[in-house]
Amino acid sequence: MQPDALHVCILSLTCDIVQLVSCQHFQAKLFNAMEKAMKALTQKLPENVQEVLDQVLEDVRPLDGGALADYIPELAKADPSKFGICICDTDGNIYKAGDVNVPATIQSASKPLLYMLALAERGVDAVDKKVGEEPSGRPFNEISIDNTNRACNPLINTGAIACTGLLAGDSDKRYKQFEDLCKKVAYRPDEVHMDEAVYASEMSCNHDNRKIVDALLENDIIPEGTGDVALDAYTQVCSMNVTACDLAVMAATMANNGVNPCTKDYILPEAIVNKMVTVMMSCGMYNGAGKWIVEVGIPAKSGVAGMLMCVVPGRCGIAIYSPKLDVNGNTTRGVHVAKALSQGLGLHVLQNDSKDGAKDEQDKKKTGSKVAPAPKPNPKFEKKDHTAIEVRAADPTTRVPPRLSGVCPATDGVSEVIG
Ligand code: DON
Repeated sequence: MQPDALHVCILSLTCDIVQLVSCQHFQAKLFNAMEKAMKALTQKLPENVQEVLDQVLEDVRPLDGGALADYIPELAKADPSKFGICICDTDGNIYKAGDVNVPATIQSASKPLLYMLALAERGVDAVDKKVGEEPSGRPFNEISIDNTNRACNPLINTGAIACTGLLAGDSDKRYKQFEDLCKKVAYRPDEVHMDEAVYASEMSCNHDNRKIVDALLENDIIPEGTGDVALDAYTQVCSMNVTACDLAVMAATMANNGVNPCTKDYILPEAIVNKMVTVMMSCGMYNGAGKWIVEVGIPAKSGVAGMLMCVVPGRCGIAIYSPKLDVNGNTTRGVHVAKALSQGLGLHVLQNDSKDGAKDEQDKKKTGSKVAPAPKPNPKFEKKDHTAIEVRAADPTTRVPPRLSGVCPATDGVSEVIG
């Protein structure tokens, strides 16, 4: 092409582009595309989150192995069919599936909050002198004190009772402080309260926690004369009612550096939240914590009434309610859900979840979808509740916490691996 012809061609093309760009229709399309790209870059969760949630609820529903905790008699009255999942992202969007409004006691899912209360009230140095950050590798209800005379970590009974012992005031004041904090980060703040029946039930059989209190006093972890107060306040705290939605907003607040994403209220200092979430990553799932990090990769904390909260920093909080427990005392379905959501929504905090990689394409071809296929029920454990004796017979290497007399192995999949 002659240079003149080339100039004409470029000029005409430029005119076309200018015309195109000034055309309102084109501008609107361009604006839309840019908006979508920005949203995709900044959004906390994939667009199909509700679809994934509904699918996971249905896939995991049959995986209801395990048993209700019965060492606290009142907990054995729970309806084992209840099952709900709630996600709250750090923009305050809430996604729900199943029984998300059924209240149950928070139990050990209170431990991260108790730890933050102690850190905020007593300061990091004072708490660090009494409560460590190491996984105990032991069941949650054992006396776990390290060789420097500290509770191993705040997320087992020993550490949580130690944190309660470090707070000020009588037991009602300590409980109130906890409840007030929870109300600031709950989905339905006005309905958060203590379940008196569960409190009375646990107080009537608190022998093992009493032994923990004695060990804390002997090792000078809690001040002399505070044993009864610490035990009473801890039991009240464990007996506070929450729903999956309450717990999801609590977890989302932790994922959002201490700011409630729904109310935008500043609740706790970022440094305290970050410390707690980091400890939760390695200690939150008890003696199954290592496998949990590999397979789920989300800081999490469970409770024996069947609640499980997961904190995905910067992205969302997840809560699951299903009362049957696996051998570690974690909700069986909850563990399956956490694994499925971690894979389905790309939430593992230590794994690159790039959607463009060649490996991702191969995975998609293999599974036909981005949602991890939920594990099939293991006929060995399906539709039958096992006693602890059967568990031991099935696996002589499994240590069942003595008080979890009804707690059983999960069906196949992550909880069995974790256990
Ligand atoms: O102290 C106890 O045994 C109960 N109040 C809480 C234990 C618990 O939730 C363990 N978590 N899975």
